[in-house]
Amino acid sequence: MLTVGEVRDAAQRFLEERGVENARFVSEVLVSEVLGWDRLRVYLDFERPMSMPERDALRAWVRECAGGRPWQYVLGATDFYGHRIEVDPVALIPRPETELLVDRCLEAMKEIRPAHRLRAADVGTGTGCILVALASEAGHAEETQWIGIDRSSAALGLAARNIAGHGLAGVQLVQADLLGPVGQAALDVVVANLPYIPAGELEHLPRSVRDHEPHLALDGGAEGLDLVFALMEQSERALRPNGWLGMELGIHQAAAVRERLGQGPWDKIETIRDYAGIERIVTAYRAC
Ligand SMILES: C[S@@+](CC[C@H](N)C(=O)[O-])C[C@H]1O[C@@H](n2cnc3c(N)ncnc32)[C@H](O)[C@@H]1O
Repeated sequence: MLTVGEVRDAAQRFLEERGVENARFVSEVLVSEVLGWDRLRVYLDFERPMSMPERDALRAWVRECAGGRPWQYVLGATDFYGHRIEVDPVALIPRPETELLVDRCLEAMKEIRPAHRLRAADVGTGTGCILVALASEAGHAEETQWIGIDRSSAALGLAARNIAGHGLAGVQLVQADLLGPVGQAALDVVVANLPYIPAGELEHLPRSVRDHEPHLALDGGAEGLDLVFALMEQSERALRPNGWLGMELGIHQAAAVRERLGQGPWDKIETIRDYAGIERIVTAYRAC
């Protein structure tokens, strides 16, 4: 009987031969999922024999991944900010760099502390991963009115399942174009990971992204900043004075965003680099 280590190595080789990125990591994730283990245990218990039913289940997943399907869609779930998030091709797979946006947003929410009940909107909520992380981590969730906005009704259905799955009652989900239906000075926090890939670059994305993730979640218009700039403009109206705006961006976009913010009613403009040193997040406070 083949051991866990032997099966993992075989899965890795099969994925590598078919050009799957991070084949080692993907094979470990799939093996650990089949066995109901965490990934570390794949290393510790590598000599444990794997049964035929376990290998059959793994083989089916490995084949799907070898065909280019992201492992997160194959498993139907991923982890974000320590929370299990259901994923589906109707919405973008949550990325680790977006956790930096959650970190900064949680800090901003502590700083703002309005006298009234805080109102925070996640624009382009997708799976709802940002809302799940924020509402779970912020503490005193009942003191905040959470709103998730997306143009895609299918994505909102998925977000609703994720929110309910984490027992987060009272989160409002709205199908809308950005902050369209939000009134003047109605919000204290706007957080957004909107589509930011320049339209011309979509075809050059890795196959797993281009062929499997929804274009509505990727396409940011000619320079990639159409929706980001529109959100900044709408946030000038929708945020209360001293309200906070935080946006995730693509590579080489932060300077243009800072410049545009600098021309508007914004203070304390900050940039956060991701793990690769890319200027990934720009934040600002609505001037009083
Ligand atoms: C890059 S994905 C981010 C999803 C999720 N927030 C995350 O961080 O993983 C962008 C999301 O914005 C939504 N979207 C695209 N255009 C929009 C618009 N004009 N108004 C609201 N949402 C929009 C897409 O449907 C998609 O779910």
